[in-house]
Amino acid sequence: MPAFAAAAPGKAILFGEHAVVYWRPAIAVPVSQVQAKVTILADPMAPTGRVWIDAPDIALQGDLAQLPAANPFHRLIGSMLESLKIQCLPALKMSIHSTIPVAAGLGSGAAVSVAALRALSRFLGHPLTDEQGCRLAFEAEKAYHGTPSGIDNTVITYARPIYFVKGQPFELLQVGRPLTLVIADSGVSSPTAAAVGGVRARWQADPRTYDNLFDQIAAIAGSARTILAGSAIQGLGPLMDDNHAILQEIGVSSPELDRLVQTARNAGAWGAKLSGGGQGGDMIALTSPQAAEQVSLALKQAGATRTIITTIASTIA
Ligand code: MEV
Repeated sequence: MPAFAAAAPGKAILFGEHAVVYWRPAIAVPVSQVQAKVTILADPMAPTGRVWIDAPDIALQGDLAQLPAANPFHRLIGSMLESLKIQCLPALKMSIHSTIPVAAGLGSGAAVSVAALRALSRFLGHPLTDEQGCRLAFEAEKAYHGTPSGIDNTVITYARPIYFVKGQPFELLQVGRPLTLVIADSGVSSPTAAAVGGVRARWQADPRTYDNLFDQIAAIAGSARTILAGSAIQGLGPLMDDNHAILQEIGVSSPELDRLVQTARNAGAWGAKLSGGGQGGDMIALTSPQAAEQVSLALKQAGATRTIITTIASTIA
């Protein structure tokens, strides 16, 4: 019996998190050093329709039918069956392995969704297009955190740097020079839903202030897109610093993230900011290729539980 496997990368948001939920533009890149991998195997001894999920990295094991109704796998698989007009699944085992830390801002939920949809649709003989997979992964994102912008499932599906505005077709970004990023985990687990919910409550209480902050982030993302397409990528550093300062004002930074951001700058990064939902999770620093190791070391010494050095390739031949 053949196994059907698929993988999807993590992601980092370079500019525009949170504001993107409010229709401002954002920029995100894939992070291929971390991956979610899903394997589907038929289980002919089990009753028709039984989906056995085995996901040791997220401490999840059991029959899908027994999982709480709010579990995102219900929405993920349900919407896929609906879309493919399939009534019932054959019995199967879905095994999920992920090196993407959970609740850290690296898109672990979206990556598992994208990989699961790919593997399952291949297993069923109806491979989804990227467009279909992206749309269905967005449905599962809603189960994870209510009001997602769709940036995570999009950058992870297409595994390319993107410029993204909610509800609009995304743009593949022009990257003029390779970017070296150091990503560091603050070690504080922070579910995106809580951070997004907190921002929503504060925005509702004071829309003028928050819309103004989101507009400032939008202007930064616009400038960053122009700089990214050129050769003076060092100019992204101050924009990252500015974006971080606004995220602090929005209330989604934390003492641990602020310390790591400052550490990266002191160690020679061109700029640094939190990345993703914030209030914990990851931060990113932009460095020269030569400075990446020293920045990574400084971040570990300052308490980062894990660092990743990643390079975003130039898109210009
Ligand atoms: C999460 O990776 C990014 C947020 O902007 C939420 C979203 O866009 O759905 C915080």
